[in-house]
Amino acid sequence: MKKLVSLFALLGLMTALVACASAASSSTAASSSSAASSVPEAASSEAAPASAVSETSTECSHTLVAYFSCTGTTEGIAQKLAEQTDAALYVITPAQPYTTDDLNYNDNSCRANQEMNDASARPELGGEEINLSPYDTIYLGYPIWWGTAPRIIQTFIESHDWDGKTVYLFCTSGSSGAEKSLHDLQNLYPDINFAAAKRFSANASDSDISGWLDSLH
Ligand SMILES: Cc1cc2nc3c(=O)[nH]c(=O)nc-3n(C[C@H](O)[C@H](O)[C@H](O)COP(=O)(O)O)c2cc1C
Repeated sequence: MKKLVSLFALLGLMTALVACASAASSSTAASSSSAASSVPEAASSEAAPASAVSETSTECSHTLVAYFSCTGTTEGIAQKLAEQTDAALYVITPAQPYTTDDLNYNDNSCRANQEMNDASARPELGGEEINLSPYDTIYLGYPIWWGTAPRIIQTFIESHDWDGKTVYLFCTSGSSGAEKSLHDLQNLYPDINFAAAKRFSANASDSDISGWLDSLH
């Protein structure tokens, strides 16, 4: 009898592990405004493309933090958010990493500015793909580029089915707020439930993040 109980316990554990593994495994992974010709407010141009792919929390979670970050600022916030929400973490990786020159917004013809000036630009995704279906709450993060979300966020959004998901946007910037990116993405994707958006500074503390999370519920 004892053996039978242990067998059932083992089977239960295996089922739970398979459920979590499928949530973390692959399938498919990834606003409109135009780049102004003047310099964006207080921006940084150093480039150290965020390193690769997905990583998950230790527990089976239905919450995902997906982010794009070129110089690590948004990445720092994303990591804190994932910790506090016990979420899986996913890096939105461009197929072609952004170099320092690509991000030099003082140069009108730099790659980032060209993309932001072209409403149809959809920078290709690289890295490991992600299946969003196990997640019902998604925190989607990005740096503000020319007041709004970088085009690769559109690539990511258009690569997935967002039906039934609640999406919280977060961003970092030199000084611009999150409102315009929220508004732009809501206009572009009216069927997606963008529930809120928050801009964090580079040095946002754990309590800045928990304060925002508390305000959402
Ligand atoms: C092409 C480009 C455009 C930017 N535009 C703005 C802007 O409009 N407003 C702003 O406050 N910061 C702007 N920034 C600064 C970034 O939003 C800021 O440095 C951000 O925290 C970088 O995040 P990351 O390190 O995760 O890439 C811009 C930066 C780049 C590269």
